[in-house]
Amino acid sequence: MSTTQLPNTASLRPDFIWGVSTSSFQIEGATRESGRGLSTWDVYCQTGEIKNHDTGDVACDHYHRYREDVGLMKALGVQAYRFSVAWPRVLPLGRGSANEAGLSFYDGLIDELLAAGIEPWLCLYHWDLPQALEERGGWLNRESVLWFADYAALIAARFGDRVKRFATFNEPSIFSLFSRSLGKRDRSSEDKLHCMIHNVNLAHGAAVDVLRANVINASIGCIHNRQPCRPSSASEADAAAAARLDVYWNAAFPDPQCRGEYPASMRAAIEPHMQSGDLERICRPVDWFGLNHYSPVYVKARTDSMLGYDLGEKPADVPLTPIGWPIEPDAFSQTLQAAHARYRLPIYVLENGYGDAGQPDETGAVIDIGRIEFLKAYIDAMNEAASRGADVRGYFVWSLLDNFEWDSGYSIRFGLTYVDYASQRRTPKSSFDWYAVVVGGMQR
Ligand code: GCO
Repeated sequence: MSTTQLPNTASLRPDFIWGVSTSSFQIEGATRESGRGLSTWDVYCQTGEIKNHDTGDVACDHYHRYREDVGLMKALGVQAYRFSVAWPRVLPLGRGSANEAGLSFYDGLIDELLAAGIEPWLCLYHWDLPQALEERGGWLNRESVLWFADYAALIAARFGDRVKRFATFNEPSIFSLFSRSLGKRDRSSEDKLHCMIHNVNLAHGAAVDVLRANVINASIGCIHNRQPCRPSSASEADAAAAARLDVYWNAAFPDPQCRGEYPASMRAAIEPHMQSGDLERICRPVDWFGLNHYSPVYVKARTDSMLGYDLGEKPADVPLTPIGWPIEPDAFSQTLQAAHARYRLPIYVLENGYGDAGQPDETGAVIDIGRIEFLKAYIDAMNEAASRGADVRGYFVWSLLDNFEWDSGYSIRFGLTYVDYASQRRTPKSSFDWYAVVVGGMQR
């Protein structure tokens, strides 16, 4: 591998952490095994609306193959692995009786990681809400705060002796803005959106308190998707729509969580859901800012839709990934610097990656130069942000494995490792070998 292809990491801290990320529903499979309860995503998949009618029933069969997958992480040489716990696997009904088999699975995974010298980063919630709680109103029910706190208490008690890094939520702005629970995505959904935003923020604060009280040396944060929302045209209407979405996409959660206040433009809409003392309940001390970033979001005005926006055209002169996402590493550098300036917390990049549909060649190898070029450009941009003072302390590639990409099913691949879903055979791609060199090059 010529060194010209390696990124510049000269401005990164000596204790910088390199990792990889996944999530429970996207890789585990075994959705009806060992007492696991149904999640909302199992129900969505049963409607057949996922591309190719894909489901998470098998996924990457990680539930049975986790030892092999930890072996892949060891081969990469990463110091850390970010995963999520499937809430319905450990609490089948979301609350009440715990499922020992589910807890035992995560015991095994965590012990395997520690034996491999890999630090577990545990995310409590990566979108797979127990269906039984959805049927009680889900995040639209303020009782969700108590359900989530009880779930956090179970996780703290079971794993807090070995796990110290905890994320409360993955991308709360994404799973609220695009939640199926909001029903029609028109103006009538806006009050439900604000209700959900507020309950999730309260649940975050409650979980931080539970983790802090029950885990010695807990290191806690929330993982935010942070991507600038830009107008698709020069029109005032598109500019206004982009500015409005930017508040909900990038500030509706980290501002109350880290600064103790909602953005001014949304305070009137949140007010009906606010109770005395809520901002103090939300703004609890966290140790780091989790940041996921892929590209800017291009926005156009649409008066009849929720928040008056729709996703718009990307600039014609911007290169795109094979799945049509803009490649703009400068935006990543600016995003890191802006997050540093606004929240003044250590930043860990917990998702950045490249989607394609790459397949093995005639030799069985998976050569993904596009992913290497993307990761190099984004790590260079991260290094540039660090050189300008952004306190960025880690970078986790999304993802270790090709996996279930939500509405796109298995048609899109983000892995450093190719997964043949028929055989479940794992094949490290050329980007896997490249990333191992990057990680190794930074080893002290
Ligand atoms: C997200 C989720 C991941 C995705 C990844 C690629 O940001 O949507 O955190 O689960 O799979 O980002 O889209």
